[in-house]
Amino acid sequence: MGRQRKIAPSILSADFARLAEEVQAAEKAGADWIHFDVMDGRFVPNITVGPLVLEAVRKVTKLPLDAHLMIVEPEKYVGDFVKAGANWVTVHAEASVHLDRLLHQIKEAGAKCGVALNPATPLSAVDHVLGTVDLILLMTVNPGFGGQKFIESCIPKIRELRRKIDASGREIVLEIDGGVKADNIGRVAGSDVDVVVAGSAVFGQKDYGSAIRSLRNGA
Ligand code: DX5
Ligand code: ZN
Repeated sequence: MGRQRKIAPSILSADFARLAEEVQAAEKAGADWIHFDVMDGRFVPNITVGPLVLEAVRKVTKLPLDAHLMIVEPEKYVGDFVKAGANWVTVHAEASVHLDRLLHQIKEAGAKCGVALNPATPLSAVDHVLGTVDLILLMTVNPGFGGQKFIESCIPKIRELRRKIDASGREIVLEIDGGVKADNIGRVAGSDVDVVVAGSAVFGQKDYGSAIRSLRNGA
């Protein structure tokens, strides 16, 4: 009994000089969401883009925009990302001093709220926000770069999170991010994952349509 797996191509691996075309090509190729990686050079050792670029992307696609904030002091910026048009705003538990307050802040601003956990962060970090959070993102690489290798020890963590979410009785989206390809998606995600982020496995391929199909159907 499988849930229908959604595929969220990450623009981190897209050609930024042709971002509008790339996003539209992903939409046409069957992407379910667009994953938008925000990095500040502090929480992670890389810098990407902010709300201005998200606002520009908002204008060229109807797909849900999934903003993944890999930044310190996310409370300063979540409002800007919602205003720019993000449907989902996910903050890292490791970067959030007042996580419960921050999740409410995102909801009040008008978006769905998510919490991301680094590979070494225990699942207990979300135990006390299960009544509030709309999405939990498990990092399956150490955040900062596209094209890294999937960390195998994350597999039991994915299984355990599935059980936790089912036990919560709420419809919390389980998303995984990093190192997922057509040749490992079946084994790592199985039917436990709702949304799979894929950067290089989509934008690094010639044919986005067949890339997305293989991820969606990968057994
Ligand atoms: C990594 C980012 C990911 C990244 C995934 O820090 O959060 O979203 O784009 O890229 P792949 O799928 O190539 O591992
Ligand atoms: Zn991401």
